[in-house]
Amino acid sequence: MKALIAKENADPEAPPSARLELADKERPAPGPGEVLVKIEAATCNPSDLHYLKGEYGVPPEWGAAAGFEGAGIVVESGGGFFAGRLKGKRVAVASAGGEGVWAEYLLASAKTCMPINKAVPPEQAATFIVNPFTAFGLLDRAVALGSQAVIVNAAASQVGRLVIRMAKPRAIDVIAIVRREEQRLALVAIGAEHVLLSTDSDFEKQLHAAAHEKKARVAFDCIAGPATAQLLTAMPTHSTVIVYGRLHRDPDDLYGGRYPVGHMIFAGDQIEGFWLSYDIKRLGLWRLLRRSKELQKMFRDGLIKTEIQSRSAIEDFPAAVDTYALNMSAGKAILEF
Ligand SMILES: NC(=O)c1ccc[n+]([C@@H]2O[C@H](COP(=O)([O-])OP(=O)(O)OC[C@H]3O[C@@H](n4cnc5c(N)ncnc54)[C@H](OP(=O)(O)O)[C@@H]3O)[C@@H](O)[C@H]2O)c1
Repeated sequence: MKALIAKENADPEAPPSARLELADKERPAPGPGEVLVKIEAATCNPSDLHYLKGEYGVPPEWGAAAGFEGAGIVVESGGGFFAGRLKGKRVAVASAGGEGVWAEYLLASAKTCMPINKAVPPEQAATFIVNPFTAFGLLDRAVALGSQAVIVNAAASQVGRLVIRMAKPRAIDVIAIVRREEQRLALVAIGAEHVLLSTDSDFEKQLHAAAHEKKARVAFDCIAGPATAQLLTAMPTHSTVIVYGRLHRDPDDLYGGRYPVGHMIFAGDQIEGFWLSYDIKRLGLWRLLRRSKELQKMFRDGLIKTEIQSRSAIEDFPAAVDTYALNMSAGKAILEF
């Protein structure tokens, strides 16, 4: 089978395609409790780019297929209750490292495959786990923290757009932050009511006013670095910033985070992390499947979807992943097998 394998590259400025290679690999055979998924479509997320640079929560495995997320049809079962029931079904899959999804076939534990209604097209199924479950989990956490308004930075990202779309029916106000005017217009077009431009000279003043007016005590921060402190400084006392990404690039900033100590001590503020891998474990199989049904209904009802910027055959991966890395707001790059 064809696979897009991870290749070590010491140059920090190398494009993502220079960290990948199309190779032939042996097609795996499923054992008990496992299935073989013929991958139809796979997506490229920021986590894939971090992984290929050795900057992710799991270390890269050079020579193994890369890719954390995709979708396909279960073509073989290795036996067992779950595995047998999945044969012929379209499933969304998320790998946790090791052999990834950017390959013609993926060997997966049946319990990690999420059956997807065939009405959901492959490219949407391929983006079904990482971002929709993250947006859902973040909003759930905001509600648990008692905030009916949230601040979201890098809000033109797919997670940001999903938060905006999912918050509306839950009557949660969203203050979205973007860094370009075209991103602001794109978010207004999907119904965002409060969108701030971080490049405005009085941005911090605007953020402070909006956070206090809406009583936004929770922020979803995927930029980190100086952004976390900026958020906490603008928010009311007793606020929480949930850091779930590190898009801010600063090679001199070893830990990637800065926080205002005084706010933590005197204003009752807190910072916490979110990683979907932990949230999935916390939910457990049945609650995960229930959430999947809820998200698929949102998709069928037209409430949520993922923007797609390109669909490319696997052989054309260099243009697909490099173009995505340069303009992530335009939507996901889908690799097809
Ligand atoms: N912790 C978790 O479990 C988890 C799960 C899912 C996603 N995430 C994280 O969530 C974030 C968004 O993911 P996604 O797939 O939704 O992203 P995406 O759709 O690929 O879009 C990325 C967005 O980030 C913006 N961006 C990049 N670098 C930035 C910076 N330094 N400052 C401000 N904006 C910046 C891009 O804007 P431009 O177009 O202007 O570059 C783009 O709008 C990523 O950090 C990802 O790692 C975390």
